[in-house]
Amino acid sequence: MRQIIIGNWKMNGSPALVDEMARAIYACAASLPCDLVLCPPATLIAPLAQALPGIAIGGQDCHEREAGAHTGDIAAGMLRAAGASHVILGHSERRADHGESDAMVRAKIGAARAAGLTPIVCVGEDEAARRAGDAEAVVIRQLTASLPEDFAANGLGMVAYEPIWAIGSGRIPSATEIAAMHGAIRAALRARFGEAGAAIAILYGGSVKPGNAAAVLALPEVGGALVGGASLVPADFLAIAGAATAEALGRTAVAG
Ligand code: 13P
Repeated sequence: MRQIIIGNWKMNGSPALVDEMARAIYACAASLPCDLVLCPPATLIAPLAQALPGIAIGGQDCHEREAGAHTGDIAAGMLRAAGASHVILGHSERRADHGESDAMVRAKIGAARAAGLTPIVCVGEDEAARRAGDAEAVVIRQLTASLPEDFAANGLGMVAYEPIWAIGSGRIPSATEIAAMHGAIRAALRARFGEAGAAIAILYGGSVKPGNAAAVLALPEVGGALVGGASLVPADFLAIAGAATAEALGRTAVAG
């Protein structure tokens, strides 16, 4: 299975960036060694999906309910109708800015799956936990509480390990630390979901740049990358995608 490179634009982007990104990706998509998913702000999902047919598009969050009086929120079905096939859930910025708990993330995963979206579920420790030697325990606890029992059922969910202290900081865990955490996540997924847990892609996110992508993507159990800042610069995003390895283990196909 191919590695998956996901761009999380966060609260950035514009119609101009949609055009620029679409042109850059269109020129080389067929030759990339990986699958791409682009997660722009909700207002840019439809234009990006129209500009790049064949490239998977994702939302950055969804509400746990199908519809209702929830001003400012967006339902999974609305993302799907706009052209999305994926949705990022439980990003640390959502957990921090909007108080999202593991239980809320779990409910949102259910809503995403019911709407036919592939959830990309984020977990990651803060700096204090890493310093205290608790990173693995914190991440596995988050993972266990965030994933519903049927997470592995249709083979379309993914997990993204994003240490909070590495996001937007230019700092990144050592290769040993990334490999150890991905190994621990894999072991937890296998223990809970059996063989189906072996096929769930585990992506790394946090300051992935063209200069470090090849080293990160070559590590065992790294099924791809979740890229923030560098995904706003087409040349950088495509350089990261170009660093993907063709055949790492344990990943999930991107269904558009
Ligand atoms: P950066 O790549 O900007 O560190 O962001 C990572 C991230 O949060 C992706 O979801």
